[in-house]
Parts: sequence; C-alpha cells; structure tokens
Amino acid sequence: MTKERGSFSRLGFILAAAGSAIGLGNIWKFPYMTFENNGGSFVLVYLLAVAVVGLPIMIAEIVIGRSTQKSPVAAFLALKKPGWSIIGWLGIMTGFVILSYYSVVAGWTVHYFIKSVGWSIRGFGPETAATLGDQFGLFLSRPFAQIGYHALFMIFSMTVVIFGVKSGIERLTTILMPVLFGILLILVITSAWSSGFPEAIRFLFKPCQISPDSLLEAVGHAFFTLSLGMGAIITYGSYMKKDESVPRSAALVCVMDTLIALMACVVMFSLIFSLPEADRTQFSASIGVMFTTLPKLFYSMHGGFILSPLFYILVGFAALTSTISLLEVVVAFFIDQLNWSRIRATLLMGLTIFAFGILSALSLGAVQGLSVIRPLGGKSQGIFDTMDYLASNWFLPVGGILIALFVGWILPKAFSRKEVEEGHGPFRLHGLWIFLLRFVAPLAIGWIVYSVIILGKSFN
Ligand code: PHE
Repeated sequence: MTKERGSFSRLGFILAAAGSAIGLGNIWKFPYMTFENNGGSFVLVYLLAVAVVGLPIMIAEIVIGRSTQKSPVAAFLALKKPGWSIIGWLGIMTGFVILSYYSVVAGWTVHYFIKSVGWSIRGFGPETAATLGDQFGLFLSRPFAQIGYHALFMIFSMTVVIFGVKSGIERLTTILMPVLFGILLILVITSAWSSGFPEAIRFLFKPCQISPDSLLEAVGHAFFTLSLGMGAIITYGSYMKKDESVPRSAALVCVMDTLIALMACVVMFSLIFSLPEADRTQFSASIGVMFTTLPKLFYSMHGGFILSPLFYILVGFAALTSTISLLEVVVAFFIDQLNWSRIRATLLMGLTIFAFGILSALSLGAVQGLSVIRPLGGKSQGIFDTMDYLASNWFLPVGGILIALFVGWILPKAFSRKEVEEGHGPFRLHGLWIFLLRFVAPLAIGWIVYSVIILGKSFN
C-alpha cells in the first residue's frame, strides 16, 4: 500500500463532510427531540446553536486539519503543541466508542429494509401492524441477528475505508449524497399531500415555551449532528485542498445538515399529524419508533409500499456515510502515527471496534446482564445506553471546548487568519469568529458539562 495521504477533489470535501454530518442524528434523533420539545422555538434555538457554536468550531476543526495535513494527534504535534494532542487521543476514543454502537443501529436499517420489501410484496395487514412492537423486541433479543447485522454494517464501512480517501470515501459520498437528497425529497413531496402536512409545518415554526434544558439539548445535539468535537472534521479537513474556501465549505455543510434534519421532520410530523390526536403519543422518545411506529404510518399512505423501503435505504445510506468518517478517524491515526498500511489499519481497527460493539449489540435484550448493568451508577442502563451517554454528554462536549479554546486562545491569530483566507480571500469575520471561539462556544458547552457533572443531567 502506498503511504500517500490522498486528498479530496473539489466538492469532495463538502460531500464527504456533509455525509459524515448527516446521519441517524438528523433523521432519527432530531425529529423526536423536536417533537419532545414542542417544535418551533426548539428549532430556532437549534439553528442558533448551529450558527454560533457549531459553525465556528467546524471552521476551527478544518483549520487544524488543513493547515497540518495530519490526523488529529499528529496535527497538534505538527503545530508544536504536544499537550493539546489530548484532543486527538480523545477523538480516537470517541470515534471508537460511537462507531461501536452506531453500527448496531445502522445494521437494523438493513434488516428493516429487507423486512419492508417483504411487507410490500406480501402485503401489510392489520395483523402485521399490531405485532410491530413485539417483532422489534424479538429482533433485539436475538443475539445472532444483532451481531450479524452489526457485522454486516462494519464490513460495509471497512470496505469503503480500505479503498482510501478518493476512491473509497469520496466516490461513495458523491454517489450517495445526491441519492439521499433525492429520496428525502420524494418523501417530503409525498408527505405534502397528507392531511398532517399543514400542521407539521406550523409545528416546526410556531413559537412555544422553551426550558433551559432544551437549550442545552439543542447545543449538545448541534455537536453530534455536525460530527464535531472528535476530530472527524479535522481528519477530513486534512484531505482538503488549499484552493478551497474553508468558511464557505463549513457553512455549506452546516446548511445541508440542517436542511436534511428539517426535511426529515416534515416527513415524520406529516405522518404523525395525519393520525387522530389520541394516537400521536406513540411517537415517543424511544429508539424503536423508526421501526415500530413508522411502518404503520407508511403503509397507511398511498405509495407506502415504495416509500417504506425507500425510507430504510435512506437511513442506511445516511448512516454509512457517517460510519466511514468515524472509522477514518481511527484508521488515519494508525496510518499517520504508526506507519501502518491502510489495509492493515482498517482491518485491525474495524475488527476491534466490531468486537467491542458486540457488547452494545447484545445489550438491548439479548443478554440480560449487559442490558441491565449500570456501570456509571444511575446515569445509564445497559452497555448501549452507557456508550451513547458517555459520547454525547462527555466526550463530544469536552472535545468541542478544547478545540474552541485551542483555536481561540492558543493558535496565533495570524496563523489561523492565513489558513482561513487561503482559498477564500480576505475573511472579514475573522474577529467575530475568534470571539465566538474564545467566549461564546466555551461558555455554551461549559454549561452542558457543568449541568452533566454538577446537576447530573443527561442529554442523550
Ligand atoms: N453526525 C452524525 C449523525 O448525525 C454522527 C457522527 C458523530 C458522525 C460524530 C461522526 C462523528 O448521525
């Protein structure tokens, strides 16, 4: 294998980074968070969080990656700030942890795609609808199915990463991202004909009461959904060309990510608001809703037999472009730091993460001990939940604060200005950007960490 690092071509970075950002967080997590938080104002706060915390940190991550052309640990060494390479170490651990459980859920989308094709062919009657919850529970409790689909998704991700930056990641994302957008657009257009559509739009934009906890949830989610705080964007930034504009690319990725999240909300809410009032509570904050409630809704619509399989492919594609970025962070470290070949790094790390992920795969009902264990006291239950708790509440926010502080206070302003302006021209907002990194982002995220540590809240 060659040791050449590889780089993205034009648009390659944007699509790959958008691919990383757009994932289960947009299509599954954001709609139910918005639903739980009563819509409109939550969406507004979230948009604000993306603009004043997410976007500045995304630019900061790209600056670190592109200026050094190195993966996160090596990047801080190259910047002569070895102590800060802790950000890189934390990122590798976070990538490892998130991928281990994310791949489990991603695997379910494959199973439900197959199931859904079956329903479309054989028909989806009231008996099927009535047993969806039980079927899902049964699926979670079958160890071989859980491990098998998790394995399958890890194999998909490893295959792409083995092919490298250009012929693997870039090629796949440039095909999948437009397809994903197309499928979602079809779903949005179809939902515009449903009776719930007008209410869905109203719900998304109407002002409502908002609690401090929802504010924090919005900031925390901005991190997860934009793939920030763990070096994924530093790593992709290290493959970005110098003649591209950093601020413009970052802004575009944030806009695309937000647009997809809002489109997913329109689809889901249109489905839900087409139901009689009393049935709407089925849409609860559980991971299973995508598999237990949505099929019923799809098959009650015209064209549901096509829309339902399309939906699961969509979610699977979105998840795949995210899992490859998680794996790439880990793999790039072993290539850059230990001089491993790409094949070796991908196979060994992919297998290790797969093995670790088995614990999560079995912790949703298959193995009692893993499902009820509370390694952090009362904070989380079961391995799957614990991994998500640690990543969403601790690793990503802490990584995010450190990145903001590093670029805001430690990296010389002249250096960051030069990097941001390369390929962009004069960056008039440089002062504002540094201000957001120095004060606004650390305070907003510090507040999350404070609430998690002192007040014992959790936001996953
Ligand atoms: N952003 C992805 C999503 O919304 C998840 C992710 C987090 C991917 C961190 C990479 C890094 O689903």
